[in-house]
Amino acid sequence: MLNYKNNDPYIEGTSLHDLVKVCATPFYVYSQEKIINQVNKTKEILGNNIFYSIKSNSNQAILKLMNSLDLGADVVSVGELKRALEAGFNPNKIIFEGVGKSEQDLLYAMHKNIRLINTESLEEIKLLDSLATEKNKVVDIGVRLNPDIDGETLSKISTGKKTDKFGIEIDKIDKIVELVKTCKSLNLVGISCHIGSQISKIEAFKNTFNQMKMAANKFIESGINIKHVDLGGGFHVKYKVSDPDFNIEMVKKELDNCFTQTEYELSFEPGRYLIAEAGITVTSIITKKNNGGINYLIVDAGMNTLIRPAMYGAHHEILAINSNSKEFIDYTIAGPICESSDIFSRDIKLTKQKIGDLLVIKNTGAYGKVMSSNYNSRPLPSEILVNKDNYAIVFSPEKIEKIIEADIIPSWL
Ligand code: LLP
Repeated sequence: MLNYKNNDPYIEGTSLHDLVKVCATPFYVYSQEKIINQVNKTKEILGNNIFYSIKSNSNQAILKLMNSLDLGADVVSVGELKRALEAGFNPNKIIFEGVGKSEQDLLYAMHKNIRLINTESLEEIKLLDSLATEKNKVVDIGVRLNPDIDGETLSKISTGKKTDKFGIEIDKIDKIVELVKTCKSLNLVGISCHIGSQISKIEAFKNTFNQMKMAANKFIESGINIKHVDLGGGFHVKYKVSDPDFNIEMVKKELDNCFTQTEYELSFEPGRYLIAEAGITVTSIITKKNNGGINYLIVDAGMNTLIRPAMYGAHHEILAINSNSKEFIDYTIAGPICESSDIFSRDIKLTKQKIGDLLVIKNTGAYGKVMSSNYNSRPLPSEILVNKDNYAIVFSPEKIEKIIEADIIPSWL
């Protein structure tokens, strides 16, 4: 994402050094141009029915941009639903999913007349029917199916195996049909699935498509008028050089092989694929030390800023910015948090670094800022959106004093 002019790093036409002057590290930077290009490429290949999975990056500026690119929104909480509405998404282009929606959540989504509420259990279908009946409404719903497919991704981000908590088992279609036929306030019009995130094997998509086609046919044969088949997200992003190449055209090929003529529309709900590579995290070196022969660079970003390495063992490439030195050293890059797992990368070769130098953590546009926290009472990272030689700070964190103020001391203390 970085380009260099006279050895100075730029994002589009904006100098990284200029950003560091106006915003304290650590922060996230997104390239608008990169997002637009990736969205357009995805739409060109997979068609216009793309629902951006806003959990991957739900900054209001990013949502406004995604909406302007004519994407729909896939939301998984009332908070995300409110974000999508606030950013201007047409309710008719919002899908509400999630394995645990409360009565209040369902009522809110119903009230907003969104495109589809995707249910994930027989109990949820019953609850939604009773709420809709109470409110004298007829609600369009989808059912998220669990196709029992191993996406062969990190176990913590796999969602499509029978034993995962998500969706309703695909071999319970008869039970779903039987139930929805008794629901007088629900219209079952869609089925969906999502087998996991960061899936590189085309075979997994192929198997999913076949299962979903079989499921759609089964519903249709049982007299249910399925109009939408949502095939989930999960497209792979190349975080390391050694990661397998992922080709979205291959997904399209399998899609066309599987679904020739259909009575229903097909859609996808990617998050990571649309935005991961359009973001970086910029951090400064606070201090350095050698412990037990390991050269640590302690940076101001930590697992509170970007949790993916600590949580999933995920890899993010790290670049040195101030690379005047010709000497290369093996460094371990660690955050300031008091946890041994607060490590971004071990034993990577960088030019010799000094305190105050900047490092860039790559491909952090998805599941970066959204998963950040105030752990160790540190502020959340800022976010900057770059548009050519223009930029805007699109998130500025609460001061720690404000965060302290939110705690309430009981009268007996
Ligand atoms: N649809 C559903 C129902 C999902 O649960 C997800 C992601 C997506 C779509 C979008 O998946 P994507 O295209 O972004 O892979 N925090 C983890 C990723 C968790 C993904 C959860 N669900 C990470 O940092 O890798």
